[in-house]
Amino acid sequence: MQKTLRTIEWVGARSGALLPGRVRMIDQTRLPEKLVWLQTADLQKIWTAIKTLQVRGAPAIGIAAAMGVVAGVQTSKARTGAALAAEVERVADHLATSRPTAVNLFWALDQMRRVARAGHALAPAELKQRLVRAAMQIRDEDAAMCRAIGQHGAKLLKTGFTVLTHCNAGGLATAEFGTALAPIYTAREQGKDIRVFADETRPLLQGARLTAWELGQAGVDVTLICDNTAAQVMKEGRIDCVMVGADRIAANGDSANKIGTYSVALAARAHGIPFYVLAPTSTFDLTLSSGEKIPIEERAAEEVTHGFGRRTAPHGVKVYSPAFDVTPARLITAIVCERGILRRPFGAALRRACARKA
Ligand code: MRU
Repeated sequence: MQKTLRTIEWVGARSGALLPGRVRMIDQTRLPEKLVWLQTADLQKIWTAIKTLQVRGAPAIGIAAAMGVVAGVQTSKARTGAALAAEVERVADHLATSRPTAVNLFWALDQMRRVARAGHALAPAELKQRLVRAAMQIRDEDAAMCRAIGQHGAKLLKTGFTVLTHCNAGGLATAEFGTALAPIYTAREQGKDIRVFADETRPLLQGARLTAWELGQAGVDVTLICDNTAAQVMKEGRIDCVMVGADRIAANGDSANKIGTYSVALAARAHGIPFYVLAPTSTFDLTLSSGEKIPIEERAAEEVTHGFGRRTAPHGVKVYSPAFDVTPARLITAIVCERGILRRPFGAALRRACARKA
């Protein structure tokens, strides 16, 4: 089985006990130069880690937020479960302000809120134990969902295929193993020969810094291309399919993912290349009828004007930097989740996948 890095986990301070404890996560801003783990039990540092992309990728953000809730209340002096549950609400509200687009953040915070509300009659020490176990379960379930996505998605890959991917939807973006990269790892475990073209993913270079690094570590044949090369490699006949992750999938299948994904989907359609979105059901947001309603994060101008450690644009230039775009469902060949491969019409298929989850 493919060796994987555990991107994020909860570590007890003393062996045999989960509390008190801290979050241990790969600091993704240091890659590819250094593999450094950030360890903290400080709520504000966890909020900042999410905001500044030290931990990033929709599922990993959700796990960080769930663990952030535990970190935020583990030293609470609340005398009743109800008082502790009220603190959980406050901490969750704060963590929810870190990034707006990936629904996994809100999904994980809701799970933690539910545990707190259900345990409001418990002694605070017992409720804290339930919260830490819930956060660890969110991590473990994500890892299992990624493995299942790998199994389903690998059916779409024949030996000799070259896959184009955008941003990083690999192990680094999840508990481990990834979503869009999971079928590649699984297909390799099955003995298939798979190659990858990775878009570098301006402005923060998740494709170059993270995907190329992660695939290289796993021994996958990866070729890095500038974002503006994607259509050209498709035209040259080098790409068999596109596999990307998602930050939020609306009820009609419209899928938000890293900015630039939409142009890749348009290029894939123009060249008759299948375009697959791979995401766990925790990324589905059936409360939104279409992608137009997905909140899109805008990032600081400096991420564009100082992209390579030095100024690359004139002082005072206007910048527009949405972090995500929405690929309309009509450009998506299939959505792969832990329940299987969903085909159009996505509305009914997404509802069925979520119903089976409950
Ligand atoms: O801004 P980021 O790096 O958090 O954006 C990440 C992406 O867009 C990923 O493709 C998405 O979260 C899916 S991760 C399995």
